[in-house]
Amino acid sequence: MISAEENKHLMEVGPGTLMGELMRRYWMPLAAQSELDDNPTKTVRLMGEDLVLYKDKSGTYGLIDLHCPHRRADMSYGIIEECGLRCNYHGWLFDETGTCTEQPFEGVAYPEANFKEKTPIKAYKIEPKAGILWAYMGPLPAPLVPDYDFLNEQGYKQIIYTDVPCNWFQCQENSIDPVHVEWLHSRWSKVLDPSSGVPGLEPKAHAKVGFSEFDWGLQYHRVFEGDTEDNEQWTIGRVCLWPNALFTGFFEWRVPVDDENTLSFAWFNNRVPGDEPFEQERIPFWRSPLVDEKTGRWINTHIMNQDFIAWVGQNALADRTQEHLGGSDGGIIMMRRRMLEEAQIVADGGEPKAVIRDPEKNKNLYLPRQNRNGRGGAFAQEPDGRAPRNRHLSGQPQEILDEMDKIWKERGAKPVKS
Ligand code: FES
Ligand SMILES: [Fe+2]
Repeated sequence: MISAEENKHLMEVGPGTLMGELMRRYWMPLAAQSELDDNPTKTVRLMGEDLVLYKDKSGTYGLIDLHCPHRRADMSYGIIEECGLRCNYHGWLFDETGTCTEQPFEGVAYPEANFKEKTPIKAYKIEPKAGILWAYMGPLPAPLVPDYDFLNEQGYKQIIYTDVPCNWFQCQENSIDPVHVEWLHSRWSKVLDPSSGVPGLEPKAHAKVGFSEFDWGLQYHRVFEGDTEDNEQWTIGRVCLWPNALFTGFFEWRVPVDDENTLSFAWFNNRVPGDEPFEQERIPFWRSPLVDEKTGRWINTHIMNQDFIAWVGQNALADRTQEHLGGSDGGIIMMRRRMLEEAQIVADGGEPKAVIRDPEKNKNLYLPRQNRNGRGGAFAQEPDGRAPRNRHLSGQPQEILDEMDKIWKERGAKPVKS
């Protein structure tokens, strides 16, 4: 059983904490690139630190302290310059490295003091990739943003944020939990809506589960009753991507905002019909609602919304000393142990699992995926030929559906004959 101390370690994300230092060794997806095109500054909170993300006029991204080192004004109201972000209170200017490059009054009145050299602002690295702005808050030199194979595939991509009011680690434990899929999704969906449930998730009982580790994470494997071990559910299973995502043919990152809040950052890619090349000009983003406005209860109609209900139901900070783990929880036990081991490696000055520094090795990293040539490979569509609707998250904006439907139609998607 887990001790109260271990439980606390697993959930702390602030600077100087055991897990906070481990998580600072990895790039975190923080925002959609398109969001900064719409508005060049964004207030963010990441691993307990309040920051402002910005894009300057030269196109450089920065992630700096929310508060100016002069007299603590809010930098998210700052003025975007050619190189950097200028505080709107007295005009101090900072670049993406955190260097203070101008102090208008000090520079004119007391140039010899060179005070700006003494007043850098806290700054972290940002890198764009696959329409995502990735943040790195660890020691330099920074490793490489992982080049997962799925990020490079053809298709219509979209990014969906949800603000989940609980600790990130209980969200990630869900990524190595096979049996919840049968109950929380398949069976509960049928209870909620007997006429439909979630298509493709007909209730099937688990007969066997297994867990394994590979270079980029952990995997769970399952055999449903009536199936054999030749099935991809067993040979491939699902990927619990190190350190904080689920990969099933799209990505769901659980980004630690602070100890009691998580940003669910989903990255979807739907292969578009037709063989001609496809370029997506802009990867759109949207925020999925958590609460049903009519009832004031959590939304339960979509797969990830059902997951959110389970996670927040464990309280903002899950008390693992009160659990009773069973045979289906082997992956949970494995992940907790591996996380604490890797956190200790960092505490001892070492390099943890899945940090990539060699550009030659960081090419199209293979992620195991079931049905590689089916749902994750061939394009998907609704039976009437429209683009696939998002069954994972509620509230997909109509303009995104319209854009997808237009693309599907132009590229020849046809109703399926029954
Ligand atoms: S508080 Fe930012 S320049 Fe004075
Ligand atoms: Fe789930």
